[in-house]
Amino acid sequence: MSSIGCIILAAGKGTRFKSGTPKVLHELHGRPVLQNLLDVVAEVGFRRPVVVIGHKAGKVRDFLRDKAVAVIQRKQLGTADAVKAGKKYLSRFEDILVLYGDVPLVKAGTIRSLIKEHAASGASCTLLTVFMDDPSGYGRIVRGSSDEVRGIVEEKEADEEEKRIREINVGLYCFNRRDLFETIKKVGKSKVKKEYYLTDLIEILISEGKKVSAVTTDDTDETMGINSREDLSRAFLALNKRMIKKLTENSVTVMDPSTAYISPDAKIGKDTVVYPFVVIEKNVKVGKRCSIGPFCRLRPGTVIGDDVEIGNFVEIVRSKIKSKSKAKHLTYLGDCVVGREANIGCGTITANFDGKKKNRTTIGDKAHIGSGTIFVAPVKVGKGAVTGAGSVILRNKNVPAKAVAVGVPARILNKREKR
Ligand code: UD1
Ligand code: CA
Repeated sequence: MSSIGCIILAAGKGTRFKSGTPKVLHELHGRPVLQNLLDVVAEVGFRRPVVVIGHKAGKVRDFLRDKAVAVIQRKQLGTADAVKAGKKYLSRFEDILVLYGDVPLVKAGTIRSLIKEHAASGASCTLLTVFMDDPSGYGRIVRGSSDEVRGIVEEKEADEEEKRIREINVGLYCFNRRDLFETIKKVGKSKVKKEYYLTDLIEILISEGKKVSAVTTDDTDETMGINSREDLSRAFLALNKRMIKKLTENSVTVMDPSTAYISPDAKIGKDTVVYPFVVIEKNVKVGKRCSIGPFCRLRPGTVIGDDVEIGNFVEIVRSKIKSKSKAKHLTYLGDCVVGREANIGCGTITANFDGKKKNRTTIGDKAHIGSGTIFVAPVKVGKGAVTGAGSVILRNKNVPAKAVAVGVPARILNKREKR
């Protein structure tokens, strides 16, 4: 493969978002829109792409840190101008892969196919297209009599006939670097929007006798552009669907894919069953043969062992629940470790926040936590200990192993005989 560089355009305003946060930093299933794209290009092999930033550049730069080479486009004059801004960082490559920061769902396999086709055809530019039932908002692919690509016309500049074209420009291209930067100088301002369109390059390349080829995908989920908050929620659902498909192919049962929301960063073991209305956020690990939900939320930092049962209205965050334990109803566990084979009774709460900081609760193996127990953290409960229904275990009033604690505030009674 020839040497190939990668540039992501992310300087645009995202006008339709009407937001104080740059569009590419909006959250998409628990991580910024742009992170999705950085992950996918990394998967293809681009560890430090060039990212063109402009609108609210400071915030985007803070996010990027060493994940990319950030270059500034001073004025957002269009996608051709944005590519120009990255020129000096791309001079050592033979070919350049161009992506748009607001088209974050493209798959690694699709990018690889595009690069492969580009190398095989020896084209000056290879671009990705897709057919859409409703192509509005996108640039349309204009083809000639023998189906060859002749150019791209932007919606704002298109006539009625062109608007009826259903094949659209995804915004993913491979260019021969020399041809790209030679031709980009020749792009003029568009008539209606007064921007320098990267898409105008296609017609110029062709008029100069250069070859342009196209790869067409049939997955309209991966090609969606995020231009409004409505698009953002559609992208969230598409990403969620993709994650659930991956899980179900890997021996996880998801009872109702339309009400389970599972982060692409979550890890779930074989034969675990996820019931309806469950939210599993990023950085969550669930073991094998667990039962999760219905109606529960596993927040970041939750690690669940094997054969664990988490039932309805249970919220867990930054906590570890070891194998064979149960928390089946109406419970909040935050900053907590629950040992093996423990039972967390209905309505248990870790009061982990003292107004200033979060404190830890540790519950030993085989502990039996009575319904409605409140742990005022920091507090520890020993192995095999029992708490009575409605007891309030005050901070640092640790319950020894096998002891029984009851009341408000809790008193320690006799030790448990056998456990
Ligand atoms: C663009 C394409 C369109 C395609 C669609 C796919 C052009 C002219 N049009 O339209 O053919 O169907 O994407 O989603 O390329 N950007 C900059 N600097 C700028 C302008 C834009 O960095 O000066 C970035 C934006 O942040 C964005 C990307 O380039 O990530 C695309 O720009 P946008 O304005 O969203 O283009 P579309 O109108 O969606
Ligand atoms: Ca866009």
